[in-house]
Amino acid sequence: MDKLVIQGGVPLNGEIRISGAKNAALPILCAGLLAEQPLRLSAVPHLRDVTTMLELLGHMGMRIAVDERMNVELDAGDIHTPEAPYAMVKTMRASILVLGPLLTRFGHARVSLPGGCAIGSRPVDLHIKGLQAMGAEIHIEHGYIEARADRLKGARIFTDLVTVTGTENLMMAAALADGTTVLENAAREPEVIDLAECLIKMGARIEGAGSDVITIHGVERLYGTEHRVVCDRIEAGTYLVATAMTGGKVRLANARADLLEAVIEKLREAGADVEHDADSIGIQRHGTLKSVNVRTAPHPAFPTDMQAQFMALNTVADGIARVTETIFENRFMHVQEMRRLGADIEVDGHTAIVRGAPHLDGATVMATDLRASASLVLAGLVARGDTMIERIYHIDRGYERIEEKLSALGARIKRVH
Ligand code: UD1
Repeated sequence: MDKLVIQGGVPLNGEIRISGAKNAALPILCAGLLAEQPLRLSAVPHLRDVTTMLELLGHMGMRIAVDERMNVELDAGDIHTPEAPYAMVKTMRASILVLGPLLTRFGHARVSLPGGCAIGSRPVDLHIKGLQAMGAEIHIEHGYIEARADRLKGARIFTDLVTVTGTENLMMAAALADGTTVLENAAREPEVIDLAECLIKMGARIEGAGSDVITIHGVERLYGTEHRVVCDRIEAGTYLVATAMTGGKVRLANARADLLEAVIEKLREAGADVEHDADSIGIQRHGTLKSVNVRTAPHPAFPTDMQAQFMALNTVADGIARVTETIFENRFMHVQEMRRLGADIEVDGHTAIVRGAPHLDGATVMATDLRASASLVLAGLVARGDTMIERIYHIDRGYERIEEKLSALGARIKRVH
């Protein structure tokens, strides 16, 4: 299995390009199931989760063409198996995103129920309840969600929690439903907006994406189109934190500051200078790195997918920080690993108290989930000596060529087999 070896202590300098967003690409690939002609996508990131989703769609009968620049063409003209098997869903929970499109387009879907995952139980009850409200008959049989509906009907759906993939699943299902669906307490994440923009180009009638009420007027059919996936705000945020931690000066091309306001505010509070134009962000830090409290919440508040990275920042900052996780029940697995690097972190329920230390010391650590792994890379970049990160397949799920991008900024990092 691959490992990353990092020799810490080098400030990052230079420019890199941010990839298309994983969390936008995954639902948009599923939207390909809705179209009667080919959907052509560009800026699809080359990631393990994307490959898994393409395999899943291929298993259903989707015709897929991918060129060397990750332009992807999807043709759902010949779907023969509207099913997501356990073997695929267990490796990637986002597979649940095929449920809404399959059901609304083909009247039937069979999708394995995702099990627990490293960051908590993560149920999909709200996806199911929403589809039932639209008239679907849903049974759980042998670990599978069996869903049927001749044609879904528009409905008013209130979800008592804000769910990102739940909003996306219901928005896709409603696009071909009979009548109008109103999603209340909808997720406002930029990836939901990107999906809505793609669906609108395909002929969907959607209003309000980006607000907490999304209205979808169902149409009879959707058509092929072309769409470029929005840039990955979490990848960008991760490199911004890396630079704030190591010091230096970095520019990120294909990065949008308007999608990262809460994160940039915290970086400034930590002592970094951040400036931007419409599609790039620059960061530098010269002075002391200061501790910052963070509390995760749905967009536009501070994202849970940046929590672990700010935990890493706080381990070497001046002061004591409180890091509170409100979205997932068990998203502090990186704490144990950071302690192996000498970090001083105490966990009290959903809050971690992080006392900044003058330095961390390199050690062997293990990646446990995607963002936790990224936080260990950041810690390794500032630790004295060598940090070896094992099980980095988690990182490859969501960061495109992380070692190449960091090397381009001067980091001493290599992948070993
Ligand atoms: C998405 C993102 C993930 C991010 C998360 C929160 C994708 C592919 N993944 O995950 O990177 O960390 O949003 O921003 O976009 N919940 C229920 N019942 C449901 C659905 C969700 O109880 O039916 C709970 C979850 O357990 C969690 C909370 O709601 O506590 C939010 O989860 P949700 O927004 O659905 O996360 P994902 O869409 O899985």
